[in-house]
Amino acid sequence: MKLGFIGGGAMAEAIVSGITSQHLLSCKDIYISDHKKARCEYLQTTYNVNSCIGSESFIDKLDMVILAIKPQTAVKAINEIKDKITANTVVISIIAGITLDTLESYFSNNAVIRVMPNTPMSVGAGMSAICAGSKASENHVTAAEKIFASAGKAIVIEEKLMDAVSGLSGSGPAFIFVIIDALSDAGVKAGLKRNMAIELAAQTVLGSAKMVLESGLHPAQLRDQVTSPGGTTIEGVHIMEQKGVRGAMIDTVTAAIEKSKLMGKQ
Ligand SMILES: NC(=O)c1ccc[n+]([C@@H]2O[C@H](COP(=O)([O-])OP(=O)(O)OC[C@H]3O[C@@H](n4cnc5c(N)ncnc54)[C@H](OP(=O)(O)O)[C@@H]3O)[C@@H](O)[C@H]2O)c1
Repeated sequence: MKLGFIGGGAMAEAIVSGITSQHLLSCKDIYISDHKKARCEYLQTTYNVNSCIGSESFIDKLDMVILAIKPQTAVKAINEIKDKITANTVVISIIAGITLDTLESYFSNNAVIRVMPNTPMSVGAGMSAICAGSKASENHVTAAEKIFASAGKAIVIEEKLMDAVSGLSGSGPAFIFVIIDALSDAGVKAGLKRNMAIELAAQTVLGSAKMVLESGLHPAQLRDQVTSPGGTTIEGVHIMEQKGVRGAMIDTVTAAIEKSKLMGKQ
């Protein structure tokens, strides 16, 4: 299978890193077009893939093309390729806020799939949600699932849930980075060295997430297990509730979801 990318930025790199580390595709079958020469050279050197300015040399040879450009530059990039790809090319868009209807209006002859990945794909721990357009077959969706699950997990959802996914797992890594930073600030305040505090905080977040995923227990059950009567943890949990951390996190994700909905209307 020949896979192309329009845009060779952070997300394209995260996906390529997953695919190549899992040997899902041969590097010579991966093609990336970006605007910047230095970026193309970096991708070519780092991942041994084909990368160049402009997609003219490969766009009509692809089985799948992933649109990995920012929403603001999407229309220009789509117009550059829409009449050059063949009808057999499956178009996958990871562009936030651009609906299947809009994509299908540009690529009227092609199967179209929308995906919301996240940046932890770059370390093999991504979370992607996939939804299929009207012409996408089960095989197309399975192929997309394989690509995005090569560096993490992938689920298939209905498009109406895409804004929710975008706000939760798409933007979520940034929210968790803020929490890790804040936890490590607390460690530094108590006398820990910064790098030690960051390691303690990050590994705690990683381990807690693994426990949720691997135990199958509800997070509240796991919290109860570490909260001894009259102990230190319940003191901290009390402050979290007093300060409204839970409400703040719900508002944070809701704001990101609302922004995603707004972008979809523009
Ligand atoms: N980052 C995330 O956490 C995340 C998560 C989920 C989904 N997404 C979505 O993923 C998409 C890509 O995000 P990103 O963070 O990877 O963006 P990015 O780092 O800005 O990468 C986009 C790259 O594409 C290049 N480009 C723009 N127009 C092009 C064209 N017509 N042909 C070839 N290259 C072109 C850009 O070059 P110039 O800078 O020179 O224009 C840039 O290098 C976005 O739509 C975003 O909504 C991102």
